[in-house]
Amino acid sequence: MGGVVYLNGLVVDPKERGKGIGTKLLFEFKAKVQQLRATMIFFFVPAANRSSVNFYDQNGFIKGKEYVFFSKNLEQRGS
Ligand SMILES: CC(C)(COP(=O)(O)OP(=O)(O)OC[C@H]1O[C@@H](n2cnc3c(N)ncnc32)[C@H](O)[C@@H]1OP(=O)(O)O)[C@@H](O)C(=O)NCCC(=O)NCCS
Repeated sequence: MGGVVYLNGLVVDPKERGKGIGTKLLFEFKAKVQQLRATMIFFFVPAANRSSVNFYDQNGFIKGKEYVFFSKNLEQRGS
């Protein structure tokens, strides 16, 4: 496997959403990652953020198969 790139957030101005801008940004980002000869993009999206989950689904991203995400809520009793 080649290099791995972490996507630290992709945000479109709320007034401009739903016009294909996010898809174009993602396309440009993927091209840049390929130029760097990296082969994997990873990031986290809160499961409750349905629009973003749907956005990445629609853009061919796969949910948690190559990495397993662990979390611990330190506000929970006994954590
Ligand atoms: C996620 C985000 C970047 C998408 O940008 P966008 O420019 O609105 O997305 P696009 O117009 O390119 O949408 C592409 C596809 O994603 C899906 N999608 C986008 N917004 C959606 C929404 N609100 N609800 C459901 N699906 C959505 C649709 O399938 C859409 O295709 P369609 O328009 O043919 O239905 C944008 O909504 C955003 O900035 N969200 C807040 C920031 C965030 O939570 N980022 C993710 C954490 S990294």
